[in-house]
Amino acid sequence: MSSTVSILPLRVQHLAFEANGTQLLDDVGFTLEAGRRTVLLGPNGAGKSLLLRLCHGLLRPTSGKIQWSAGAQRATRQQAMVFQRPVMLRRSTISNITHALAVRGVAREKRKARAESALEIAGLAELARRPARLLSGGEQQRLALARAWATEPDILFLDEPCASLDPAATHYVEALIEGFHADGTKIFMATHDLMQARRIGDEILFLHKGRLLESGDATAFFVQPKTKEGRAFIAGELLW
Ligand SMILES: Nc1ncnc2c1ncn2[C@@H]1O[C@H](COP(=O)(O)OP(=O)(O)O)[C@@H](O)[C@H]1O
Ligand SMILES: [Mg+2]
Repeated sequence: MSSTVSILPLRVQHLAFEANGTQLLDDVGFTLEAGRRTVLLGPNGAGKSLLLRLCHGLLRPTSGKIQWSAGAQRATRQQAMVFQRPVMLRRSTISNITHALAVRGVAREKRKARAESALEIAGLAELARRPARLLSGGEQQRLALARAWATEPDILFLDEPCASLDPAATHYVEALIEGFHADGTKIFMATHDLMQARRIGDEILFLHKGRLLESGDATAFFVQPKTKEGRAFIAGELLW
């Protein structure tokens, strides 16, 4: 976690996103506080990726507000995102990280040491010189997490980071996410995987067809969802 002032909480109000005349997100509102791991849960097509991209500033909302408790510039610098399919530069494993640090304005003399400890944490130290695109899917995802870790974000957005991974690689990635959490980085992860949401979530945002139907404590959601859609989803009967 960054040593400067946190960009959290994040307040999202009346957020809407429309494309080609279709309302893809409608009146979404919530607050993300530091600390608890928040899982954005919902079936395929619910709008999870859109919501993450909007919060991370990759898309502009049609209407509504996304407010960080710090200025826009600081907010941009102190957040990171990891996608389902890792985006690797055509460079070595380690320079994928040092390059990201350069882009963030980290001083040259600090980049290498920070990249090396990130690789160490992700179990990739021995692969530092290998072209990143030759790593396995699981290794690439660990590199994406190492790269995010090296930038010391206050909040890490994760969009179905394990959806393309086998169980062993998933386990490893979940352990790294746990490490971020232990270090004080806010976790905001989208998944359609109920079991993963149970493992990781302290609180749940349940999204369905572009609407935020439930938000709150994970245990309460899993024991007693408030909506019929929430109940159907937990029963495995809500497919989209
Ligand atoms: N840029 C876009 N323009 C138009 N439609 C989009 C765009 N991005 C996503 N969609 C549509 O919005 C809906 C929600 O997509 P997405 O956020 O990817 O859902 P999820 O991540 O929950 O599976 C889907 O119907 C998808 O086809
Ligand atoms: Mg998605």
